[in-house]
Amino acid sequence: MDTAEIPEFPPVSQDMRAYVCVVGAGIAGMTTAYLLARAGRSVIVIDDGPVGGGETGRTTAHITAALDDRYYRIEKLHGEDGARLAAESHTAAIDRIEAIASLEDIDCDFERLDGYLVLGGKSQREELERELEAAHRAGLSDVELLEQSPLDSWNTGPALRFPRQAQFHPLKYLNGLAKAIVRDGGQIFSSTHADKIEDGEPAKVTTRDGHVISADRVVVATNTPVNDWVILHTKQAAYRTFVIGAHVPRGSIPHALYWDTPDPYHYIRIQEVHRGLDPDHLDEILIVGGEDHKTGQEDDAEERFERLETWTRERFPMVKTVEFRWSGQIIEPVDGMAFIGKNPGTDEHIYIATGDSGNGITHGTIAGMLLTDLVLGRDNPWVKLYDPSRITLRATSQFLKENLNVAGQYVDWATKGDVDSYEEITPGTGAIVGRGRRKLAVYRDDQGVIHERSAVCTHLYCIVDWNSVERTWDCPCHGSRFDPLGNVVNGPAIAPLGDVTKPALR
Ligand SMILES: Cc1cc2nc3c(=O)[nH]c(=O)nc-3n(C[C@H](O)[C@H](O)[C@H](O)COP(=O)(O)OP(=O)(O)OC[C@H]3O[C@@H](n4cnc5c(N)ncnc54)[C@H](O)[C@@H]3O)c2cc1C
Ligand code: FES
Repeated sequence: MDTAEIPEFPPVSQDMRAYVCVVGAGIAGMTTAYLLARAGRSVIVIDDGPVGGGETGRTTAHITAALDDRYYRIEKLHGEDGARLAAESHTAAIDRIEAIASLEDIDCDFERLDGYLVLGGKSQREELERELEAAHRAGLSDVELLEQSPLDSWNTGPALRFPRQAQFHPLKYLNGLAKAIVRDGGQIFSSTHADKIEDGEPAKVTTRDGHVISADRVVVATNTPVNDWVILHTKQAAYRTFVIGAHVPRGSIPHALYWDTPDPYHYIRIQEVHRGLDPDHLDEILIVGGEDHKTGQEDDAEERFERLETWTRERFPMVKTVEFRWSGQIIEPVDGMAFIGKNPGTDEHIYIATGDSGNGITHGTIAGMLLTDLVLGRDNPWVKLYDPSRITLRATSQFLKENLNVAGQYVDWATKGDVDSYEEITPGTGAIVGRGRRKLAVYRDDQGVIHERSAVCTHLYCIVDWNSVERTWDCPCHGSRFDPLGNVVNGPAIAPLGDVTKPALR
């Protein structure tokens, strides 16, 4: 997707004090900062990259209450009341994005449109009927079952229609939030890595450069928490997801959001783009995502992009050229709902937002609304549903499945390594090399220079794997990712891969 002009913010260069320090400038952090600044609180936002440089800059931005974990599952896990609150909060999030875009006059291509859930794989009509009934019980009374989606090129068969969903351009929206935060007295700092987050009165965030931000409250909105070592990471799992953007003739596909039912599922929408010198000339890009896998457990992104393109061309023969390909990280909670609220354990002044699944735009907006209420001491009916400390006993089998999978990754310590000698590593690639009892992450750059780091993930010490398409070291345990030189790209790791002479364990 094209990028919006978000101004560059400077890094933190001195010790500072605010009422709230928000770590992470994605949809969750920026919405929280915006609402708190509107409420008159002093806010500092820090991010180790630019605003929107995390997953929010990679999203396909279906803004929807059609939850990808399905209402019939949410009802089973959280009860009828829980499903009703889920529907209510996601619907409120769509409305809130629309209201903010309108109030702040943010030109972010916000558009209301219908969403269609169609069958795929071995799914049968009964799945849609089951979801229809559960959605109605959850209060989404205008959801209806149609015999066909509006697509001409793809005979989808029956489709569930969710009216009044939405889409937008996420970076243009964040740009508008950033302007409003600054206008309301908030401060935003980029290129500022939070190295340590400590509870207390005040709570403290220490940056990599050693500056301390003191605050009455800290909101950790880093997509996956970098302040929690274990608890949350046993309740959620990181997945890579893949997206292509293909040029299609304007008007050839009805504007709507589309999803199919398999796991992993496909997600589809249209984005208008301005091109060429004529400001009135609009093209359309068909955006299709899917092919998810657990982070660090496969290295076949090229094949996944190809499968995605084949799948797309079979259903949308009007596709011309594929112009964009990208991937991103999705954090899947074991019980389908995000974790938003007070950090589990003894922390009194630290709040988190994580576990956003494929509904992270609404979950991130819910985080803004809910955390603002918690920080300001206001009641909110969604507190229990999203409580990060909750234990959903009915999700035990999924919990065990994910954690057994993680436990299985530690056998990598006992394996030999990907290659026997550095000569086998070609320029632009990396490989794990065993040296005695140690494992090294060895990268040969495009100029042929070798870079060695410890292959031990600095979160909980799994061995990272090379991701050849994205050129990153990905951890198969909880999804931390590192650039070829070992710097953190995605948490929960907070420290870079260690020096080979002395591996840094956080
Ligand atoms: C390809 C793709 C498609 C998606 N499609 C949809 C969709 O259609 N609809 C939907 O609702 N959701 C979708 N999602 C999910 C959604 O985009 C994300 O869940 C959401 O954007 C996450 O927002 P966030 O604010 O939690 O995290 P992020 O946007 O990742 O923001 C977290 C920020 O924290 C910063 N950070 C991390 N660690 C530190 C540190 N130690 N110090 C300082 N800063 C730090 C990062 O730099 C980052 O900017 C999609 C995601 C992907 C990847
Ligand atoms: S992300 Fe947890 S061990 Fe690597």
